[in-house]
Amino acid sequence: MFRVVLAHMGTVSQNGVKRLAMDGAEVVVFPAPAQLFEAAANEFFRTIYDCMKRDSVCRMAVAGGSTPKSLYTLIADRVDKGQARGIDWARVHLFFGDERCVPPDHPDSNYRMMKQTLLVHGLTAAVHRVQGELPPEEAAARYEEELREEFGDGVLKFDLIILGMGPDGHTASLFPGSAALNDHTRWVAANYVERLKSWRITLTYQVLNSASEDLFLVSGAEKAEALAQVLKGADLPAAKVKPAGKLLWYLDAAAASGIAGR
Ligand code: 6PG
Repeated sequence: MFRVVLAHMGTVSQNGVKRLAMDGAEVVVFPAPAQLFEAAANEFFRTIYDCMKRDSVCRMAVAGGSTPKSLYTLIADRVDKGQARGIDWARVHLFFGDERCVPPDHPDSNYRMMKQTLLVHGLTAAVHRVQGELPPEEAAARYEEELREEFGDGVLKFDLIILGMGPDGHTASLFPGSAALNDHTRWVAANYVERLKSWRITLTYQVLNSASEDLFLVSGAEKAEALAQVLKGADLPAAKVKPAGKLLWYLDAAAASGIAGR
């Protein structure tokens, strides 16, 4: 069994949540997935309320895949229960970290997943959909245009980017060995993923690394080996996410099983 020893001081709270500070990142290990999603929902709303207090627009990019479904459902439930008052949703702009090159009603569409989980119960944020139905290069170019319009003359700086990580250490649609890993000029890239034999649209490192906060949500034992390598700084896509702002890793115990000191 691989085990990476992270010789980093950690603290354990009374509910068993372990916090490790390491290489500029804060790694938080939750005993169970439910606690991870509660904490992620808290971070989602904290970011929005901070923007409301500053009377500014809140810009977030959110992850696709399956892990965040529980988070999005939890967020929508809190809104439905009236636990998220005082938010001007018109000033909350949600973008996607990546999208599959499929129509919005396709089972693989991240937009479709978000519509079924997050965009319910009157959560009327401004959603910026990637037009996955278009040819990949056109979809990427249009999304970049929309991003540039959104940030205008301002600095490209998302308030929060929520990311997942695959068992191969990919994040967004930045997969090992794919061309977009080396794209340091564009904000959005069309990226062919050999392993999946399919095209993806993805934010590039330039965007991920300019954020005020990047929050990784990683759950499940199948991620443990890649996660241990990523946190050790291995040459994997997720390890290259080094935001100008805060880097947070929210893990459950299963995903963190490969890191000692957890
Ligand atoms: C996607 C995601 C992708 C995802 C990881 C983890 O479109 O699939 O954005 O980067 O976060 O693949 O996926 P799971 O959460 O399904 O394990």
